[in-house]
Amino acid sequence: MKTVLITGASSGYGRETARHFHSQGWNVIATMRTKRVGVLPESDRLRVVELDVTEPETVTAALETAGSIDVLVNNAGVPSIGVFEGTPMVRVREVFETNTFGVMTTTQAVLRQFRERGSGVVVNVTSSVVLGHMPLSAVYKASKMAIEGFSASLALELAPFGVLVKTVEPGACLTTNFAARATNGGSVDELVPEPYAPWAKSVMDDLTGQELYTEESDVAETVWRAVHDTTGQLRFPAGADAVRLAQAK
Ligand SMILES: NC(=O)c1ccc[n+]([C@@H]2O[C@H](COP(=O)([O-])OP(=O)(O)OC[C@H]3O[C@@H](n4cnc5c(N)ncnc54)[C@H](OP(=O)(O)O)[C@@H]3O)[C@@H](O)[C@H]2O)c1
Repeated sequence: MKTVLITGASSGYGRETARHFHSQGWNVIATMRTKRVGVLPESDRLRVVELDVTEPETVTAALETAGSIDVLVNNAGVPSIGVFEGTPMVRVREVFETNTFGVMTTTQAVLRQFRERGSGVVVNVTSSVVLGHMPLSAVYKASKMAIEGFSASLALELAPFGVLVKTVEPGACLTTNFAARATNGGSVDELVPEPYAPWAKSVMDDLTGQELYTEESDVAETVWRAVHDTTGQLRFPAGADAVRLAQAK
C-alpha cells in the first residue's frame, strides 16, 4: 500500500487531495500546521500530523512519524494580493517563507529516502498565475514562478534516480479559504492605496467576474493524475479556468 504526505491538509485543495487518495486505498499522512480535530476522519490509513513548512524541526518530526512515504504533495500556501509598492518587505518574505522556501524544505527532507529507494514523486502545487500575467499579484506570482523553475530543474536532477517531480497549477476557487485570506476577509481596497485605486478596482472587478473556476475536486484529481503520469509531463493545469489559460498560452 502506498503512502502520500500532503502539506496544508486542514482545508481546501489539500484536504480534498487527502480525501481523494484515501478513497483510492492509499495511506494518507495529512499534515497541518495546527492539528484540527474533525477536519478529516482519522483512521489507521489516514493520520493527521502537525507540520509547519516554515519550521524545519516540525518537518523532520512529521517525517519520522510518517515513516516511508511514496509521494510528497507540497500544497501549503499563502495568498498575497495588492500593489507591490504598498506591500511591506516583511510580508514579501513571509510569502516566500511558505510558498517557496517551505516547499524546498519539505522536498529536501524526503529526497534521500526517495533517491536511495529509486522511486518517489514530488508534486508542487503552484497556481494558474504562472500561466498568464495578472496584476496585483507580483509577490504571489514570484513565489510560485520560483517553484516552477525549481521543479523543472529538479526533475532533471532526479530523473536518473527514478524520482519524479511534477507541478499542479490550480485556477481560482470559490470554496477554499484562499480568497478570503488574500484580503484578510475584508475589502481589497485597503491593500491598494491611491493613486492605484481606480485602476485596481477595475482589475478586481474583472477578476471576481470571471466565468470559469476551479473545483477542489479538480485539484485532487489532477494531483492523482500527475502522480500516475508516465509520459514525462512536468506541468498540470487544474480546473477549467487554468486549462483555458494554458490553452491560450
Ligand atoms: N484557491 C485558489 O484560488 C488557489 C489558486 C491557485 C493556487 N492555489 C494554491 O493552492 C494551495 C492550496 O490553497 P487553497 O485554495 O486550498 O487555500 P486554503 O484553503 O487557504 O489552504 C491553504 C492551506 O495551507 C496551509 N498553510 C499555510 N501556511 C502554512 C504553513 N506555514 N505550514 C503548513 N501549512 C500552511 C493552511 O493551513 P492553516 O489552515 O493552518 O492556515 C491551509 O491548510 C496553495 O498552495 C495555493 O497557493 C490556490
